[in-house]
Amino acid sequence: MTILDGKKLSHKIRENVKLEVQKLQKNNITPGLAVILVGSDPASAAYVNMKSKACKEAGIYSMVHEMPESISQENILEIIEMMNNNSNIDGILVQLPLPKHVDTTAILEAINPNKDVDGFHPYNVGRVVAGLDGFIPATPYGVMKLLEEYDINPKGKNVCIVGASNIVGKPMATLMLNANATVEICHIFTDDLKKHTLNADIICVGVGIVNLIKDDMVKDDVIIIDIGINRLESGKLTGDVDFNAVSQKCSYITPVPGGVGPMTIAMLLENTVTSAKNRPIVKG
Ligand code: GUN
Repeated sequence: MTILDGKKLSHKIRENVKLEVQKLQKNNITPGLAVILVGSDPASAAYVNMKSKACKEAGIYSMVHEMPESISQENILEIIEMMNNNSNIDGILVQLPLPKHVDTTAILEAINPNKDVDGFHPYNVGRVVAGLDGFIPATPYGVMKLLEEYDINPKGKNVCIVGASNIVGKPMATLMLNANATVEICHIFTDDLKKHTLNADIICVGVGIVNLIKDDMVKDDVIIIDIGINRLESGKLTGDVDFNAVSQKCSYITPVPGGVGPMTIAMLLENTVTSAKNRPIVKG
């Protein structure tokens, strides 16, 4: 069994991002990321904090717009419009989930697709589904990079994705399909999850249920990508896979923490630098 070490690969990618930022700075461009955080959910605040710290370390300018839970949709749209028009900002990220009174689609659609470094705007979603260039959501993008690093090619493999969210499961399925895998997507209404996971060469799971994937649900030498992040009462972080049991049977597995999580941050930085490289040249 081999551990897919996301921590190690993310460091390598972040070092490369740093070099790319230095090159851009020679042309007087400092990549900029605007993060919008609404409300006081501790997990969201922690993610935003990690993202802005990572930006700083890479030399990317970041600004965080913190807004109270009660903020109106119009006020959020105003900030997005300001960031769309700010030539120092290359990426705009609205931390999800948003409060119930806010229409998430309307917010995501207001972001200039050229600054949509999360890849959640329907324009980028569509481009990626069509196999065209577009911003790829950081988590599934990080998974594909991790597989590539370990020479794992999904072509012709049976891939079972567990979880069908817009942020993880659906884009993960798209990238696997684009990589010529045979893809199944399981979700909360799937009857007999085990029937599907047992058939899989690669399982990608991200639903937030501790120990959802047990050793009797996987075949020998399966490749396990655990995208779940759950905090146990002890404070310890764990994924959606029964790591101790499943790691006895699989060929590769991502640990939690230290697997997919650090890759997400690294790919967000990479998307921001890509956006900065494509900054429109302003004449005059
Ligand atoms: N909430 C959970 N994951 C993500 C993410 O990758 N991006 C944003 N914007 N919000 C999230």
